[in-house]
Amino acid sequence: MSNRIAVVPGSFDPPTLGHLDVIRRAADLYDQVHVVVVHNPGKEAMLPIAQRLTLLEQSVAEAGIAADHVIVASWSMGLLVDYATDVDAGVLVKGIRSQVDVTYEAPMALVNRNLANVETVFLLPDPAHALVSSSLVRQVAALGGDVSPYVPAVVARFLDTGHRG
Ligand code: PNS
Repeated sequence: MSNRIAVVPGSFDPPTLGHLDVIRRAADLYDQVHVVVVHNPGKEAMLPIAQRLTLLEQSVAEAGIAADHVIVASWSMGLLVDYATDVDAGVLVKGIRSQVDVTYEAPMALVNRNLANVETVFLLPDPAHALVSSSLVRQVAALGGDVSPYVPAVVARFLDTGHRG
């Protein structure tokens, strides 16, 4: 498996500026980055997977992130490490905002390493995004608030118009 190919997985429900920051950093570090929308059965979803995929593709393009080596995909066929193995990726990249994230991510990282020898690399996002989370954005959007400080412009437009009709 290649240590030059990385997977950035997540629910991306919806993509936030914090996600885009991590994707940009991963794209700077690795030759090929697969940004993968994964269904997380532990979380009630706001957006269907296909919609998150479209918003992510548009957000990556809008952010001008090196599109030639960033692939946006979804995965619902089982273990994330199976996707990583299929695309020859030896690394998962996750953003860590706080100790809470470390507590949540560490067991997953160990399981993924035990399952398929896939390593997890944790990146610190820009502190400007340290308090941004998809769940916060979902709450603000559901209550009719302005989410534009927290999400890419294309996501803000979608939540403001398309999503609420
Ligand atoms: O954005 P999230 O919800 O924090 O992302 C969590 C996600 C989707 C990356 C995580 O739930 C995951 O890796 N799911 C894939 C299923 C899997 O492989 N589980 C076993 C090892 S954790």
